[in-house]
Amino acid sequence: MCGIFGYVGSHTASPILLEGLRTLEYRGYDSAGIFIPGSGVVKAVGPIDNLAKKITDTIPGTSGIAHTRWATHGAPTEANAHPHKDQSENVFVVHNGIIENYSLLKESLKVQGITFETDTDTEVLAKLIGVNYHGDLLEAVKSSLQLVQGTYGLAVMSDRDPDKIVVARLGSPLVIGIGKDGHLVASDPSALVSHTKDVVYLNDGDIAVIEKDQYSITTLKGENQNRKAEKIEWDLEEIKKDGYDHYLLKEIMEIPTTVENTIRGRLISDKGRVKLGGLEGYIDKLTSLHRLTITACGSAAYAGEVGRYIFEEYADLPVSVELASEYRYRTSLVDPKSAILAVSQSGETADTLAAIRLAKKQGLNTFGIVNVVGSTIARENDAGVYNHAGPEVSIASTKAVISQVVVMAMMSVLIGRERKMSLETGKEIVQALVELPNAIKNVLEQKSDIEAIAKKYKDYRDFVFMGRNAHFPIALEGALKLKEVTYIHAEGYAGGELKHGPIAMLDKNFPVVAFAPQDHVYEKMVSNIEEIKARGAPVLVIANTGDDQVSRLADDVIYVPRVHSIVQPIVSVIPTYLLAYYIGIAKDLNVDRPRNLTKSVTVE
Ligand code: M6R
Repeated sequence: MCGIFGYVGSHTASPILLEGLRTLEYRGYDSAGIFIPGSGVVKAVGPIDNLAKKITDTIPGTSGIAHTRWATHGAPTEANAHPHKDQSENVFVVHNGIIENYSLLKESLKVQGITFETDTDTEVLAKLIGVNYHGDLLEAVKSSLQLVQGTYGLAVMSDRDPDKIVVARLGSPLVIGIGKDGHLVASDPSALVSHTKDVVYLNDGDIAVIEKDQYSITTLKGENQNRKAEKIEWDLEEIKKDGYDHYLLKEIMEIPTTVENTIRGRLISDKGRVKLGGLEGYIDKLTSLHRLTITACGSAAYAGEVGRYIFEEYADLPVSVELASEYRYRTSLVDPKSAILAVSQSGETADTLAAIRLAKKQGLNTFGIVNVVGSTIARENDAGVYNHAGPEVSIASTKAVISQVVVMAMMSVLIGRERKMSLETGKEIVQALVELPNAIKNVLEQKSDIEAIAKKYKDYRDFVFMGRNAHFPIALEGALKLKEVTYIHAEGYAGGELKHGPIAMLDKNFPVVAFAPQDHVYEKMVSNIEEIKARGAPVLVIANTGDDQVSRLADDVIYVPRVHSIVQPIVSVIPTYLLAYYIGIAKDLNVDRPRNLTKSVTVE
């Protein structure tokens, strides 16, 4: 997804801007560019290195704006890359988001004699600001934004006012960094960490002027905003690769520590209870709910599906799971005794955010499970729980997904203990969470075996992942991870659905990954595996340690420890993360940044 970085201070801007862009690389992009007042614009298609080759350290100027573009309007060409300029080549704009009424604005600008060189909506915005610029950049941006429909995080500079960056936000995140020798702005706080941990998050409707020694924030309507600086909790070291070849492997190997961080200080073992500070004040509301609607996208939605099994079984709470992109556009019959639980790693996913806003309009309380502290979803929810998974850089989400399920297990104890959950069950679940990191370590220790299995399976073109009960969404998650990391076609199915269609596809070229933990549907899974074997399809089973029955049926088995059923899906999904990683590596793919994908989907 597009990234913005800006700096105004006392140091030479170009190396700072380039470094800022490099920290935003993980979000996914296809071109990049910078603008430095007095020195103009430099752009390049492809990696930041292509841009860096065009920039020498001798570029003067101590302020500038920079951008990584992920094409939405127009092909990924140099012309379409940001920054874009106005007609008089005085105003320069970098922009994340989508200007929905750009065609209309473009037509009316054309009538005024303005010409266009690119296919982008951002050029329209730059030209509009240029038309409205009469010596005051802030006013020009303000008056232009009154005409704009859509979403934006934007940074604007003028050659005539080189020590000022005007930034504005509506639906696309921006954060100001308070540095020692100047101020910074970025679309992602991780880009600021090497300069400062003191940041100010902008809200939707904010417009700010950033200068070397000061910044000021108002709303588009002109109301002053005195917002306090907050501290970023993450270290730069946490964002680096830590000796691993890829972030994806680093983040998978970090899962045991992630779980420890997610549960730290939150479990009350002797009482079989949990304490979630972010939900204090809302316990009565949560325990008196008639229904919880979990809304999310992608893997976070699959985590939510696992959560459905958990909440219904352990918290006695009916749950629906809604893909945020569907929920926001469908007519939903609102149960006033329900609430929304939004699950999001980034806290910036556009559809999830829209779902929360809709639910608020419907009069519902909204809760969140969010990883990125201070993100929009975290701030807009009534209350919520932070995952504490640390920064997740790889586009394929792994440790964050695990921590989402862990939080839902904790929430089920929080709610369940106020409802029907016994002290004994509460204690068992708390103990299961304490023991979870070791169970996960046991799976991670098998990574060489899983690498060997990956090499054996890497050339198949299609896969089915299959599971029952809470392992059905785990099958969906395993299939999604294989798709995004290796580009292999994979589908997830509930075991019981196999004979309703998908079994027709199976033959010796179509392997099945089957989750068969020793739970109450184990025998059903064994029957499914027998049916698959009868069609000659290779079967890779993820089974509990010591299970000889499946090992006789399967072509390959990955054994995972048998743990409490509430956390078994977590332990079972780990091999599929390693499988996707090692198949991706065997295929020589960019596993951290798969094609066409972006870390945080801030446009719908
Ligand atoms: O940041 P979010 O958790 O809201 O992101 C949701 C999805 O975009 C995300 O889980 C996506 O599906 C991942 N690439 C999956 O690995």
